[in-house]
Amino acid sequence: MSRIRTSSGELLIELQRSGGAPLHQQLESGIRARIREGLLRAGAVMPSTRSFADDLGLSRGVVVEAYQQLVAEGYLVSRGGGYTEVAEVAAIAASEVGLVPDGEPRIDFRYSRPDVSQFPRTAWLRSVRRVLNETPYRSLAYLDGRGTIELRTALADYLNRVRGTAARPEHMLICNGFAQGSRLLLKVLAGLGYRCLAVEDPSDDDLRRAAADAGLTAVGVPVLEGGVDVEALDRSGADVVLVTAAHQFPTGAVTSAETRAALVAWAARRDGLVIEDDYDAEFRYDREPVGAIQGLMPDRVAYAGTASKTLAPGLRLGWMILPPRLVQPMSDAKLMDDRGSPVLDQLTFADFVARGEFDRHLRRMRPRYRLLRDTLMERLALRVPELVPMGISAGLHVMTLLPEGLTEAAVKAAALERGLGVYGLAQYWVTPPGPGGLVFGYGGLTVSSVIEGVDLLAEALAAARSASAQA
Ligand SMILES: Cc1ncc(COP(=O)(O)O)c(C=O)c1O
Repeated sequence: MSRIRTSSGELLIELQRSGGAPLHQQLESGIRARIREGLLRAGAVMPSTRSFADDLGLSRGVVVEAYQQLVAEGYLVSRGGGYTEVAEVAAIAASEVGLVPDGEPRIDFRYSRPDVSQFPRTAWLRSVRRVLNETPYRSLAYLDGRGTIELRTALADYLNRVRGTAARPEHMLICNGFAQGSRLLLKVLAGLGYRCLAVEDPSDDDLRRAAADAGLTAVGVPVLEGGVDVEALDRSGADVVLVTAAHQFPTGAVTSAETRAALVAWAARRDGLVIEDDYDAEFRYDREPVGAIQGLMPDRVAYAGTASKTLAPGLRLGWMILPPRLVQPMSDAKLMDDRGSPVLDQLTFADFVARGEFDRHLRRMRPRYRLLRDTLMERLALRVPELVPMGISAGLHVMTLLPEGLTEAAVKAAALERGLGVYGLAQYWVTPPGPGGLVFGYGGLTVSSVIEGVDLLAEALAAARSASAQA
């Protein structure tokens, strides 16, 4: 067992000096395995070939050969100045491959995975430090149910500037993601006498469960090219509607100006409430997203945002802009639920937003995600042109319908046999069975894994088709 020192610490590599594979190969596979296991991280600087050879008692040529091979494979990169480091792509790809539990797909198009390996650790750490140095002790006491004024102020400024909202800090509420915010809101609404929630069909099924838990009836309203069908909404009898207006989940439709105006008119006519789930508007790749509906009628829209797509879902940071009459009941509900979201996380995020780090992070992430999306679109067009992507160029997912004769179950099974995870639409239809389709989440993938994933999908579709022809 030999020890190597890298910039990210010491690692053990086992070399069998006699009777094993050639030493350079053993070295290669040892380093490759450490990268796959996530023990050697992106950017870790490898020892120089000379010192590595000395440490291991090998000739320098053996180490040079191993490094060259790993550079060629994309695991390592040679940098100017003669040093070698672990490649970013390799480390991310490795986290998809090596850290995947048994039975899970090697390449996974599961939706709702942003690239958490890009979490801005350094800038976040600066904010943590500042907060710990500067926060007075009194801020650590029990909280206002709406959250800290620092975060509500920073987010109101950000949202008014970037999303065209009409937010005031006193009408904002910080919650543990949309999951908590929406559950609390539905309970509060049920308590205030609201009865029926309309959701887009198709849409995320979690909300229907939350509605049932709150004692509300949920009805589906079709999504058209320009957003939710407001005539159907009118007929449904619902008094609350949830829309993903900027980028409909999962179809990718964007709510048109006419639909927005019709929703405003519906809310006034019905004395109804619109819940606007603005979950991924920060990522629009062809042009700026249209402003939030909340800006058009702050009194009748409960707007919800989340850090789950932009930073990391594990942060559990979400926010709402509430109509004034819902602020107190929501603040009470939040305090009853958990006494408020963790204060240091709130203050850190406030500092991060107020100093422009959030904008900087988004500017850095947009071209990355855009590249993944473009790669996915190009590869689908090349390898599986029968799958036609829908929706605008935005967000972290793409939806396609399946051609006649192919079922989601058959495609998923054939893909899984090839180590590929693909996901169907079935769970999203409120009124099943809707047409079969696939939702591709690409946020947590790399360019090479998107390409390989689509190639595997092409094989899976062919296999599923021939199986169904034989049946
Ligand atoms: C439609 C939609 N809204 C909101 C969210 C964010 O939820 P949360 O903030 O609870 O992580 C997601 C996450 O996947 C989503 O798909």
